[in-house]
Amino acid sequence: MNPALQTTTQAVDTAFYVIFGISGVALVGVAVAMVWFVWRYNRKRQPVPLSQKDHNLWLEVVWTVIPTILVMLMFWYGWEGYLSLRRIPDNALHIKATGRMWSWLFTYDNGRTADKLFVPVGQPVKVELHAEDVLHAFYVPAFRVKRDMVPGMTNWVWFVAEKPGSYDLFCAEYCGVGHSAMVTTVEALPAAEFQAWLTASSATAGDPAARGAELAQQLGCLGCHSVDGSRRVGPSLKGVFGAKREVSRNGQKTSLIADAAYLARAIREPAAEIADGYPPAMPPYGQLSDTELQALIAWLESLR
Ligand code: CUA
Repeated sequence: MNPALQTTTQAVDTAFYVIFGISGVALVGVAVAMVWFVWRYNRKRQPVPLSQKDHNLWLEVVWTVIPTILVMLMFWYGWEGYLSLRRIPDNALHIKATGRMWSWLFTYDNGRTADKLFVPVGQPVKVELHAEDVLHAFYVPAFRVKRDMVPGMTNWVWFVAEKPGSYDLFCAEYCGVGHSAMVTTVEALPAAEFQAWLTASSATAGDPAARGAELAQQLGCLGCHSVDGSRRVGPSLKGVFGAKREVSRNGQKTSLIADAAYLARAIREPAAEIADGYPPAMPPYGQLSDTELQALIAWLESLR
């Protein structure tokens, strides 16, 4: 990393502490002067003004120049901090982040995907931000980065993880019933470990249910559906395969058996039948290949 660049955390923290410090000093100074004047020039103590002076040039210069310097200092640190957030180091690793109702998908240049943002320690990453459906926002408090994700518009942030660890990553824009579930983590791995993770070939080849579980993570199914029977935005997937389901089809209540054909329909065109007691909130996954769909259904079958 270019040593002249500061990290996003340093940039934001410096501006924050400068502004907070100046504000603190001003607060204490104004409050102390006010209390002092109230006490000193109280009418009971000073019934008649001591002086008839109506201005003092030096005093006026001082109280104009000092605040101007303080305000310019705040501006300077804010401006420098902002530029640091928008200047990407040359060696940044490119990762694409996709936000959709209500999950995250991260895509690496070699095609690897994940629902957590894996990054190497010590190397800056540039995260390109895309929204598939509505407004979301990419927010990692540990690295002081927050940026709107707007459908049809590409935004980006950069940051560098200086220590290995797991850091919270939130959606910071209210995006519907599942907004609060739209959380994941940044996983900062030592460089060698990260390379191994990035180049590892899929361990799930040849096992459709395992492939389905991986797809469910990548597609964000688990943002809305639990696999332990608990209720979330959508029904739990535990035991759904082969179960009797109450649904509404074109507004008509009906019951059916959740066989492979029903589950395929529920994934590709979820609006066709709405499970009773749940909002019609699921986006359609029509882009899935037949193999992917079969893998997902094999996985659902394994959850019985
Ligand atoms: Cu996505 Cu809130």
